[in-house]
Amino acid sequence: HTFWGIVPAAGVGKRMAADRPKQYLPLAGKTVIEHTLEHLLAAEIWAGVAVAISPEDPYWPELAISRHPLVHTAPGGKERADSVLNALDYLQDRAGEEDWVLVHDAARPCIAAADVHKLIDALKDDAVGGILALPVADTLKRVSDGSISETVDRSAIWRALTPQMFRYGALRDALRDAAAKGSVVTDEASALELQGRRPKIVEGRPDNLKITRPEDLPLAEFYLKQLS
Ligand code: CTP
Ligand code: MG
Repeated sequence: HTFWGIVPAAGVGKRMAADRPKQYLPLAGKTVIEHTLEHLLAAEIWAGVAVAISPEDPYWPELAISRHPLVHTAPGGKERADSVLNALDYLQDRAGEEDWVLVHDAARPCIAAADVHKLIDALKDDAVGGILALPVADTLKRVSDGSISETVDRSAIWRALTPQMFRYGALRDALRDAAAKGSVVTDEASALELQGRRPKIVEGRPDNLKITRPEDLPLAEFYLKQLS
C-alpha cells in the first residue's frame, strides 16, 4: 500500500477572527499547523504530504516544516474541497489511481499518530475507504421555530472527523463530480456519498478537535499536553 497525505490549510479562519489564519496561531510553543504536520509525519507511513496553501500566504514559507523532504506545497482554492482537489492535481504524476489518500485538516493539531494507524489498519483492505468519526454524547433534538419537534435517534448519528481515507482516483473523481454539479461538500466522505458509495466509520478520539473559535485554543493546548 502507498499512502499520501493532503492537508487543506488555505482557510482564512473567519470564525476565529484573529489577526492571521488560525493554522498560524501560537499553540504550546509552535504554530497550530506545525503540531498538525509533526503528528501526521510521526505516523511514518507517507510517500508524501501535500499541504494546500493560499498563494498570498506569507506565514508558510517562514516555517521550517515547509521544507521537510516529505512535505509539498499545493495552491489553496476557494473552498476546502477546491483546496483538496488542487492538492490531488499536484500529486497526479506521483500517485497511482489505487494509492490511498488521507485528508486531514490543518486545524486539527491534536491528531494522534496512533489514530492514523487505527484508520489505516481498519480500512487498508477496504474497497471504498472511510473516516474517523465520533459517536454523539448528547441527546439530540430536531428543532423548528425555537421548539422541539422530536428527539433524534442518537445511535445513528456520528460526528465526522479527519483524517478521511480514500483511493486517489475515486476521491478525485468524486470531488470533480461534486464541483461540476455545484454540490456543496464539506468533507471528502460526502463527495463519495453523492456517488452512492458507503464510506466506513472508524471511531476516533474526542481530543481530535478542529480549532474553530478562540475558546478551542486552550482546550487544544490541554489535549496536546496529554498526548506528549
Ligand atoms: N481550508 C482550505 N481551503 C479553504 C477553506 C478551508 O484549505 N478554502 C482548510 C482550513 O485551512 C482548515 C480546514 O480546511 O484547515 C477546515 O476548514 P475550517 O475549519 O472551516 O477553516 P476556515 O475555513 O479557515 O475557518 P472559517 O470557516 O471559520 O473561516
Ligand atoms: Mg471554513
